Amino acid sequence: MVIRAGVIGDPVAQSLSPRIYNHWFDAVGMAGRYEAVHCEADRFEETVRRLMAEGWQGLNVTIPHKTRAADLADYRNPEVEQIGAANLLLFRDGKIIADNTDRRGFARSRLNPQYVHYQATQGRARKAVVLGAGGAAGPIVLDLWGLPEIVVTNRTFQKAERLADRFDEHVRSVRWEDRNLEVQGADILVNTTSLGMKGQPPLEVDLSGLNPGALVVDIVYAPLRTQLLQEAEKLGFFTANGLTMLVYQAVPSFKAYTGLRPPSPEKILQILTREL
Ligand code: ATR
Repeated sequence: MVIRAGVIGDPVAQSLSPRIYNHWFDAVGMAGRYEAVHCEADRFEETVRRLMAEGWQGLNVTIPHKTRAADLADYRNPEVEQIGAANLLLFRDGKIIADNTDRRGFARSRLNPQYVHYQATQGRARKAVVLGAGGAAGPIVLDLWGLPEIVVTNRTFQKAERLADRFDEHVRSVRWEDRNLEVQGADILVNTTSLGMKGQPPLEVDLSGLNPGALVVDIVYAPLRTQLLQEAEKLGFFTANGLTMLVYQAVPSFKAYTGLRPPSPEKILQILTREL
């Protein structure tokens, strides 16, 4: 049997996911085809159902469909229920099951070894600031939940409010104009917006108030070293780029499609890092 799967989004042509999955299909010696599926918002449901009828195993979901994907599913895992967004739809016996693997990708990108060491020796992080409240922000807030203070800020303030409302009083929303104030004294800063991506405006945020030993994560991976990460490095903070999250969120998806763990995610991470 040939495994058929893909990533559905708009835009999607730039996605590196086909490279990752097709590399893994080859590596495990499995017949599989993973494609980028371009789909506009108003044709999402119809396209998902068509691919399911054609025998696809499932789809990864990206901009702008993650919320719609969660709504469409017949079953949602508890994380999807909590954050209202899915990045993986699995087709099983004519039913659609929604999962979100972005949290696992982010958790891995947080494991910068120097940062982990710093945390272990110098004390634990207390405050995180999440920039953006789009489809990628929910799983990240979920992963950070447990810190005493998490601040979500977004250009469209209502979206930040709505995301914070899905959690408890440890998560609060602030206006985009106030982001620099909130960065003061934070230990973790995550960019989940598209700012800083090739072709997008730069992200403007003042990092100077972050605590020493802070971690700055950018989910953008094109370019790999965004202005945000360059600035963070210059100021001596620890950093993680978006490619790690991309590769590691794909690991549980590949396993769900094939029943197999992909061999050595580090290898494709190195290959793509060299290319970017
Ligand atoms: P994703 O699924 O990758 O999160 P998205 O849902 O389209 O994509 O979210 C993009 C994020 O980038 C949002 O937080 C968006 O802010 P809005 O909710 O106000 O649209 C943010 N973003 C995009 N362009 C921006 C800009 N010029 N200034 C500030 N934020 C921006």
